[in-house]
Parts: sequence; C-alpha cells; structure tokens
Amino acid sequence: MLSIYVLVGLALGFAACASAQDIVAGATWTDTSGNVIQAHGGGFLKVESTYYWFGEDKSDNSALFKAVSCYASTDLVNWARQNDALAPISETMISTSDIVERPKVLFNSENSEYVVWFHSDTSNYGAAMVGVATANTPCGPYTYKGSFKPLGADSRDMGLFQDDDSAQTAYLLYASDNNQNFKITRLDTDYYNVTTEASVLTGATLEAPGMVKRDNVYYLFASHTSGWDPNANKFFTASSLSGPWSSEADIAPPATRTYFSQNNFDMPLGSDAIYMGDRWRPDLLGSSRYIWYPLDWSSGNPQIVHADVWQVNLGAGTYTAASGTSYEAESGTRSGSSTLITSSAFSGGQGVGYLGNGGSVTLNNVQGAGTSQWVALYYANGDSTWRNTTVSVNGGASVLVDQPDSGGGDVILSVPVKLNLRQGANSITFGADQSTYAGDLDKIIVYSS
Ligand SMILES: *[C@@H]1O[C@H](CO)[C@@H](O)[C@H](O)[C@H]1NC(C)=O
Ligand SMILES: *[C@@H]1O[C@H](CO)[C@@H](O)[C@H](O)[C@H]1NC(C)=O
Repeated sequence: MLSIYVLVGLALGFAACASAQDIVAGATWTDTSGNVIQAHGGGFLKVESTYYWFGEDKSDNSALFKAVSCYASTDLVNWARQNDALAPISETMISTSDIVERPKVLFNSENSEYVVWFHSDTSNYGAAMVGVATANTPCGPYTYKGSFKPLGADSRDMGLFQDDDSAQTAYLLYASDNNQNFKITRLDTDYYNVTTEASVLTGATLEAPGMVKRDNVYYLFASHTSGWDPNANKFFTASSLSGPWSSEADIAPPATRTYFSQNNFDMPLGSDAIYMGDRWRPDLLGSSRYIWYPLDWSSGNPQIVHADVWQVNLGAGTYTAASGTSYEAESGTRSGSSTLITSSAFSGGQGVGYLGNGGSVTLNNVQGAGTSQWVALYYANGDSTWRNTTVSVNGGASVLVDQPDSGGGDVILSVPVKLNLRQGANSITFGADQSTYAGDLDKIIVYSS
C-alpha cells in the first residue's frame, strides 16, 4: 500500500515540477526568493551548465543607474539572484545620476576574464558611450574601467557578439551617429576596446541588437528606434560580418510590433534560438516584463513562435509550445453596456467590446483541471495608452490584468493570467467591477498547467 502512495506522490511531485518549467511571456517573473526579477535589457552568458542573466535593476522605477543585477539558473526558468555585478560609483560616468543599460558579458578565455559592456550615458542620453568593466568570476562584482565613444563616434543601445573563430573575435553591435547608422566593430583581444569597423548599415536606424550564427550565416536581430515604444523588430543576414547584409525582414507580424516587445538578446537553441525581449513600461519601468519566445527556422528564416506557454529542453536544444483550449468571447453571456464587435481580425470574426465601465462578459463552461492554470487573454486595445481588465472566476474576487495598447483596434495581442480553476465547468467574467474600459476581448485560451 505504502509504495502506491509513494508512487502517487512522486507522480504529483513530477507534475508540479513540470508546470514550474513553463516560460510565459509577459507574466510577472519571480526569482527563487519570490522577488520580481529585475534584469531588464538583459544579456546572458553560459558558464559550464549554468546560465547567468545580467540586466538593469529598475526596481526604483527610474531610468537612472541602480545596479547591474546577476541571476543564475540551470534551466532558464528558475533564477536565483546573486550579488550585483556592477554598482554605482560616485564622480564617474556610472554614478546614481547616470544611465547604465543593456549589459552584455563575454568570457575572454585567453585572460580567463569576464568582461561586461554596457550603454553608458548621462541622464539626458546626451553622452552616447559604452562602458567596460571586468571580473574574475561570472557575477563579479566587476571593476569599472571607464566609458568612451567607440572610435570617437556615438554608441547607443548596444549588444556584443563573440564569433566561433579560433581567436574568438568579438564585436560591438551598436546604434551610432545619432542613431542613424548601425555599426559592427571589432574588439581588441582583451575585449577592452574597439579596433576596426567591420560593417556600417548606413541610415538603418537600428538598435537593441542580438546576433546568432547558424550554418555559417550571421543573423542580426534589431529593433528600429522609437524610444520606449515597441516597433516591428527585424532580421538581416550575411555570410561575413563585413557584409554585405541582406535587406531587413520581419521576425513577427509587423502590426503586433514584435508582440509589444524590443529585442535584448537572441540565444541559440539547437538549430533554432530563443528571442528574448523587453516589454517596456516607461511610466512604471520596474514592471516592464520579459517577452521570450521560440525563434524557429523551420520556414528557412527565423520567425517568432507566438507561444503563450512553452517549455525548453536545453539538453536536446528543442522547445515545445503548449496547446490549450480556446473559448470565444462572442459565445459568452454579455451584460450591461458590452457589445458584439465584428472584425476579421478577431477569431470567429467577432469579439466583445465596451467591457468595463458598466459592461462585462461571462464565458461559461470553461473546463478546468482543478488547479492553478495559465489562461491567455486575446484582446485588442486601439488606444495609445494601456488598459486593464478585471477577471473573476466563479464569482470570486477579481484580479486585474494589464493590457498594453495593441497598436490598433484590429491588432490582437495576448496577456497571461494564472487562475485557479475547479475541475470541470467554470464561469469566468471579464470587465465587471471596474470603472475604466477594458480592452476588446477576442477569446481566451486555457492551458493545462
Ligand atoms: C581605444 O582605441 C582607440 C582607437 O584605436 C584609441 O584611440 C584609444 O586610445 C583606445 N583607448 C584605450 C583606453 O586604450
Ligand atoms: C487600469 O487602467 C486604467 C486605464 O484604463 C488606469 O487608469 C488604472 O490606473 C489602471 N489600474 C491599475 C491598477 O493599473
């Protein structure tokens, strides 16, 4: 008898473990201590079997420098915060009244040294420099060497790329010349300075780059320049870092503005990669979210897979997108001032609008598994501002879910919320108990974990 209970316990334990491995873009990601992960504009480095995530700590909701954080993980899902990699130093270019963004770290095997590069600026973004600091361990703390303009020209919103040649030549990827020209410039053998330009994409107006090499082709990923607002991120290819570079192409449907995100890093995963982006929230920077999706080459070109919930298998270099059950908003029970909307952008050709401020819709017979489950809300919010929607399960207390502006009333985005669903039928109500308008609801997808 006992062994049966032990087996059941193991089975349940395994299930709990499996659900903890989900990657859910746009959710509030917490570290192993339960604190919100503060590693915006991040960079990643793998050391043996450990991944390190370096990023901007924006917990003060300020653009000014607080710390370059460092987190460690072996699965890209469970992250433990380490000591800060870089802290402010007064009377330097990295004081608490300066800007330190987009830290990217390389390991220099010749010197057995870790080197972090970052965008280094004054509070008005007028300096346009890179900063460099070094350490003997992945999280440091790093020793600041200084900030400078590479080859005397501007550098903003940069990335790094380390090639796989025997010298492990590294490159700075950056917006230059007042963000007009995008440059790829070689680093010296120490990774302390730049030496010569490899490529200039003249007039490209790109920033926030990442790079992946696949079958001897270099793939450059970057956003255009629209401040904190998202835009349609692009990819470019070349067989040499000296170019020529292909013309730009989309990695996601352009109207979604890269699912409301901006590239910060692109990590190889087997023959595919992981797109790692930021969903910036300029009025509440510390609540900016992480948008990670599989970047899949099966079409021949890298394309983001819009997976609400997915898992990564690092050993196999593969990913699995979870499938869920859809429930259309138009099949729900509307009340108050909510209305049916007809639009080909909505699945089934319809959705429900005028939710909130007296309008609501209840989706009935939503099948649950008697556990806490991810539910993706597909919506459109044509405002230029963020909205939010209340969500109540079986008449329980409402939770509020943020809905970034989708960039048009016919552009559908999804945001995740974790809900406790009972086994069998549930009723979920959207837009009740709020005096502001929620986004227009297209459908929801309920995932099994
Ligand atoms: C970095 O390289 C530039 C161009 O070669 C040079 O002018 C500058 O002095 C170097 N900086 C340092 C700190 O070595
Ligand atoms: C919800 O959205 C409204 C705008 O639609 C905004 O005024 C309000 O502050 C938001 N509430 C929260 C808690 O974010």
